[in-house]
Amino acid sequence: MKLWLKYLGVNKLVVTLIIIKFLHFLAIVFAGGVLVGGGVIQSVYTKANEVPNSHVAKILKLLGYIGLISLIILWITGILLSNIIYDGFSINSAFTIKIIAAVLLLGLSILVNLHVYNASKKQIPPNKTFMKIATMSGRGLLVIVLIVAAIAFN
Ligand code: HEM
Repeated sequence: MKLWLKYLGVNKLVVTLIIIKFLHFLAIVFAGGVLVGGGVIQSVYTKANEVPNSHVAKILKLLGYIGLISLIILWITGILLSNIIYDGFSINSAFTIKIIAAVLLLGLSILVNLHVYNASKKQIPPNKTFMKIATMSGRGLLVIVLIVAAIAFN
């Protein structure tokens, strides 16, 4: 255990860990909610062969930001948990896969946000095919992260 943690005392450390883990879980709920909610909105519009109006486009843009912020919180809390509990990232192979999938998910979220930002700046709708593939990959990656998290920490 790291030296600075000794000064915190066990009780404070336990409370700190509970808070960090709670934030990790809360961010998972938000990231999942954004993917499901955004996906449902998109699929309704795709099926109707319509482009979202400006209000819905704003909602989708906001959901994209919330997703990115959730992933950043997952990374910050995840890095803290790994360092405090396991003294680093070499935990097991399932955890390594979790990190790789989490990197891909973060990259994907950044790409989607940039794409939506650029499209709205040019006042054109985001590319339908790109958004569909990104949403599907996002969901798949999130499921992978959850499965390997369950394996890594069982
Ligand atoms: C999409 C991103 C992520 C998702 C969906 C996710 C999901 C989860 C879940 C479900 C757990 C609970 C597992 C259990 O206690 O059985 C967990 C725990 C944990 N996560 Fe994440 N995580 C993500 C990102 C990260 C990242 C980026 C890191 C590290 C850099 C990380 C580090 C950890 C650690 C160390 C624990 C275990 C804490 C413990 O032993 O109590 N996570 N994560």
